[in-house]
Amino acid sequence: MKLNASDLDAKQAYKLMTAVVVPRPIAWVSTLSATGISNLAPFSYFTSVSNKPPMVGINIGQEARGRKDTATNILDTKEFVVNIGNFAQVEDLHASADHHPPEVSEIELLGLKTVPSEYIAVPRLADAPVQMECRFDRMIPFGTAGSEFYVGEVIAFHVRDDLIDNNKIDSVALDPICRLAGPFYAKLGEIVRMGSRVR
Ligand SMILES: Cc1cc2nc3c(=O)[nH]c(=O)nc-3n(C[C@H](O)[C@H](O)[C@H](O)COP(=O)(O)O)c2cc1C
Repeated sequence: MKLNASDLDAKQAYKLMTAVVVPRPIAWVSTLSATGISNLAPFSYFTSVSNKPPMVGINIGQEARGRKDTATNILDTKEFVVNIGNFAQVEDLHASADHHPPEVSEIELLGLKTVPSEYIAVPRLADAPVQMECRFDRMIPFGTAGSEFYVGEVIAFHVRDDLIDNNKIDSVALDPICRLAGPFYAKLGEIVRMGSRVR
């Protein structure tokens, strides 16, 4: 079947893309509002964009009300933390996507433990196995439906001690959450090791 992109509206294209660009990693992003209220939400349009300096990007869509709290907070404070959750946290991660007004902290609502960051004011999720302290670098708008790509420079990586050995991460022990379309998630499946062309 061929689908011409020009025949798809934004919702149809979203459904298609979230089902074919799989599995996606999830940035579980904590931010602070200009008035200091903490916020937490998951974003699976997420990737790394540079190694030196290390930089990551998340695509944040807009809603009828305008920018999501995460986007507003990043633009206001220029800081965010990308937490990488593990599968034991999937229920909290999913629940943190529920819409709440800016004055409600999803972190407090879900009773999640935090620890202070070392270089920025935004707290990290204490139980997330990896947390990246990020300084906002730039925002690039795309398309006509309000998509905005937010790029941040990673200032510090915090990795649970048992997951890292000689700068290598144990992916199985990390047990990351993979996002599929809609409400579907997956765990890592069988891992296959290839020859030397793979770095
Ligand atoms: C697993 C998961 C991944 C998501 N990925 C994205 C994403 O990449 N971009 C986006 O705009 N919304 C995404 N969402 C929806 C946001 O998490 C949701 O709109 C949330 O309420 C935004 O919160 P905020 O207003 O506090 O920033 C995702 C939701 C889930 C459950």
